[in-house]
Parts: sequence; C-alpha cells; structure tokens
Amino acid sequence: PTMTTYATQSMTTRPDPRTLTWPEFDAMSPSEKGRHLVTPDGSIQALLYSQQLDRERLDHLFALAELVRNADDGLARYVKTLLATKSGALYFTQPSTRTFTSFSLAARATGMMCEEIRDAEMSSLYKGESEIDTLLTLAELSDAVIMRQGDHSLIDRFAFEVMHRGYATRIVNGGSGSEQHPTQALLELYTLVSHFDLANVAGGSFSVAIVGDLKRSRTARSLSYLLALYPRIRQVFVAPDELQMGEDLTDYLDEVGIGWERTDDMDGQLPQLDAIYMMRMQDEYGTTSEETRRRYDDFRLTTDRAAKLKPDACILHPLPRRSELPIELDADPRAMYWEAVNRGKYVR
Ligand code: CP
Repeated sequence: PTMTTYATQSMTTRPDPRTLTWPEFDAMSPSEKGRHLVTPDGSIQALLYSQQLDRERLDHLFALAELVRNADDGLARYVKTLLATKSGALYFTQPSTRTFTSFSLAARATGMMCEEIRDAEMSSLYKGESEIDTLLTLAELSDAVIMRQGDHSLIDRFAFEVMHRGYATRIVNGGSGSEQHPTQALLELYTLVSHFDLANVAGGSFSVAIVGDLKRSRTARSLSYLLALYPRIRQVFVAPDELQMGEDLTDYLDEVGIGWERTDDMDGQLPQLDAIYMMRMQDEYGTTSEETRRRYDDFRLTTDRAAKLKPDACILHPLPRRSELPIELDADPRAMYWEAVNRGKYVR
C-alpha cells in the first residue's frame, strides 16, 4: 500500500481555502477545520487534530507502519528512496526527546533531509521576527514542517496561512500546548491495535482508563479523540477533580455516542480495565493547588495496584514519567510503553 493509492481512493471535494478568512477558520471546530486542511486529492496536508483522522485512514497507516517496521534490508532501501527529493524542517521550541528524535530518524529512513530549529535564541526570533514569519520561511524552504510549541493557536494560524496562500507544504503537529499531540495518540493506538482486535472486542466492550492530569494533557486529549473512533471502547477518566478531563472533550464523546465516566477512585476501576494510560502532572501549564499536588500520589500505578489489573491488560504512558509509573513496572509483560516508543518512529 502507498499513501498515494489511499489518497486517490478517498478523493473528496474540498472547500477552496484561498477564499476563507482567518476569523472564519478560527471560529471553526477542529473537524470543520480538517475539511480545509487537505490537498486537492483528499490527503491530509496539515495534521493538527486527532479529529481529522478516520478508521479507514488509521487502518491503512498502521498496516503501512507494520510493513516498514518489519522491513528487510531490500524494503528498507526502497523506503529510503521515497522522500529522497523532499526536505523537512523540525521547529521544536518546547523540549522533546521522543517526538523530535523519532521524526528526525523517520525523515532519514525515508530519505528526506531535515533541518531543525530548537533554540529560539539561535534563530531570527532573537532579532524580533514573529513566529509566523519564521514558520512561513520554513514553509518556503522545505516540503514539510513538523512542529512543537507551547501555544496551540500558533499551529492553527500557520496552517491557515499555508492553505490560504496555496502552498503545498505539509504540516505535522508534534505537540501543541495542552491541546493536541495527534502523532503520540497514533503510536499509542498503533500499539493497542497490535495487541487487541479493537473493532471486535470480546464481550462487546473494552475499557481504557486515562489517569492523572487530564485537564492539561494534550496526549490524553488526542488519544481520547482517536479512541472515540471505536464505538465499543468505554473511556474512564481517573483524576482528582481539579485535573479532570475538560467538558469540551466529554461533550464531543456524548455527541458521537461514546460511553465514558469520570471518577477519582483508581482502585475501584483497576480490575475492569483492558488498558490504562498513565499521565504525569503537566505543571508547565499553570499552578496546581497544594491539596491536589499532595493527592496526585494517590494516582500512581504502584506494583501492588498493577497486580489488580487483568492478566492481559495493557499499560501505556506517553513518557516522560515521574513517580506515577515506577521503573519496576518495566519488567511487567503488560508494560507496553517502551514498545510504543519504538512504534512511534514507524507510525511517524
Ligand atoms: N511523549 C512525548 O511527546 O515525549 P517527548 O516530549 O520526549 O517528545
């Protein structure tokens, strides 16, 4: 399979982005924005939100990633020719280990040369250039811009400018503020579908708990939106009240008919869970009350707690971790977060 055949199969008529104004685009829901962020032949040009993805596209993407993950030397050499005439720019102004490295290696594995800006002090931002101008420069110079930044609105504006100006540059969101991290959700889901038949789960229901700071976690939000593509998955949001999942997301789940619940009782949920996704506290996005900081220790997945999970449950964490996921759990065969890191390079 190739992305070209997929794009041809899913050809859609898109609205002309050159006639759209920024206030119109800015006011749209992520799903509506997604209709404007495609190439004329229907493939995604700018991936900003998990809501832009559908089951058909995911099945195709995971099959392709699996093919490349298991490639022999001959296939790996072929893959290295695919983007050999293309160039990319990694614009990462927030810290990253996994996302940056896996995108950089994935670019090289497909033959694409890549430049990077990670330190604003070493770019023309230092001389007072706006971030939009910096990004438009990268769009002029490269075929793809992969970016991570602390403010989600920047990628929205950049994607609008690229589409509105008729540029062909591809954009990929590598994490935008506390809003979205769609490629992280892709690697978590890729790991889950590699171990479970999510579309046909036995007993008709599969429970995934997302635990921790859900209010400010872009990885929690992006995965929840992707899981919503599987109607048999029940989502359980386990967090102290102050850090619970936002209503915008639970309203969306209601709209699309997905079963979900909010709770602060982690122990009560463990025996029913098929997968558990742990989160660190996202304290780079604001203050947390002293009481919630103290209570956060109640949301750790200790080895005693892991013993209460089903024998075939899956433990995930986007990493980096803190004390919510002790290193001792790495030896548990249900711990799949390191495998997920590996899959990240292929799905990216
Ligand atoms: N999960 C994740 O985004 O990791 P990095 O911050 O290291 O990229």
